Amino acid sequence: MRPYDIILKKRNGGKLNKEEINYMVMGYVNGEIPDYQMAALLMAIYFKHMDKEERAILTEVMANSGDKIDLSPIKGIKVDKHSTGGVGDKTTLVVAPIVASLGIPVAKMSGRALGHTGGTIDKLESIPGFKTTLSLNEFFENVNRFGIAIVGQTANLAPADKKIYALRDATATVDEISLIASSIMSKKLAGGADAFVLDVKVGSGAFMKTFDEARELAEAMVGIAKSHNKKAVAVLTDMDEPLGKYVGNSLEVLEAINTLKGLGDSRFTELCLTLSSWMCYLAGKGNLEECKSMVKNSLESGKALEKFRDLVRAQGGNPEVVDNPDKILPISKNIIYFKANIDGYISKIDTEKVGIACNYLGAGRAKKEDNIDHSVGMKILKKLGDSVSKGEPILELYVNNSSNIETSLKLLNEAYHISSERPVLSNIIIDVVE
Ligand code: URA
Repeated sequence: MRPYDIILKKRNGGKLNKEEINYMVMGYVNGEIPDYQMAALLMAIYFKHMDKEERAILTEVMANSGDKIDLSPIKGIKVDKHSTGGVGDKTTLVVAPIVASLGIPVAKMSGRALGHTGGTIDKLESIPGFKTTLSLNEFFENVNRFGIAIVGQTANLAPADKKIYALRDATATVDEISLIASSIMSKKLAGGADAFVLDVKVGSGAFMKTFDEARELAEAMVGIAKSHNKKAVAVLTDMDEPLGKYVGNSLEVLEAINTLKGLGDSRFTELCLTLSSWMCYLAGKGNLEECKSMVKNSLESGKALEKFRDLVRAQGGNPEVVDNPDKILPISKNIIYFKANIDGYISKIDTEKVGIACNYLGAGRAKKEDNIDHSVGMKILKKLGDSVSKGEPILELYVNNSSNIETSLKLLNEAYHISSERPVLSNIIIDVVE
């Protein structure tokens, strides 16, 4: 077998078999195939794509390239949730305790902020004392005892994806559906869950900017799960504006706690209830209607809030955060405003730019090694479609000495569009792919 022939076959639109995909991926991981040949293959895939079978094989090869977590020490059906990433996306902090409160084990490995999107692990680390690193045994023990554990990814999951992703990033081959779907699903499969709920974001703050692209990605990911005999549901959700009312680490934890108290933004709450219901359904707790009602009851009865308290206590955090989040969480006292420059309606938001503006305040990182400031962020005073008058605040910015306020305000000026026409708003739940 020669890399040249495999590249040529794909370049000419051919279908690669398991031996060929395995040979290229593992050869690349082992350093036997150079960057330039793997890059050429990726570009050929970018233009000629992969069919269902090739995607399933690519996913399997990448999933098998490193550690695979065996979740069998945890009893019950393990359902994982994955978001393709957005701005203000604190969904896991609400969904995980709801689902755990219904007896579904939540053994969650989450990520950190990178690029314009935030990460659950950084958000949880806003809670004083909260440990996001547990040994595998502690992780299993916490899930069996409390029904829930959320940790950062320590295992070496899908190293082939890591290496290939870095190459895709440098060769303009990231945004191809087969490559994205197999990249995400290889890590999910290696994580060991039995079923997956995939929150595929659509819009200006998402990876997939249009409905058609997002739907195709969702179908590809659900198809890959099916080929590996795992259940999956993808929910396409709106990311044309930041999710909820806050962006930034401590502020998003505050919002998650308020949501668990029933005081959340209605669209954000609807999203959390929908994703939780699908997780409950995949865990075999009942039909979808029954699951919706169980999930609603968990939120309204306060059971989910108490499960969040269990999570915080079990991982060494200060449980008082549940009762007095604004006192316990580090939230900057320095506030400035981003204001409307004309009268009208907020008609369009470049949400990715809002995420980057928040990073300039210190909430995110440009490089993996960067430190983040948990106390900074934004409170959203005006949402898409709201009317504003000239000089009226749109955002409350929580800043600190390290905040790059000028750059942030410049980006926000570019991100927010105000016009005389009220825009048509999309539902938060756009579509579901089963
Ligand atoms: N997230 C991933 O993990 N992989 C991709 O290719 C894109 C987004």
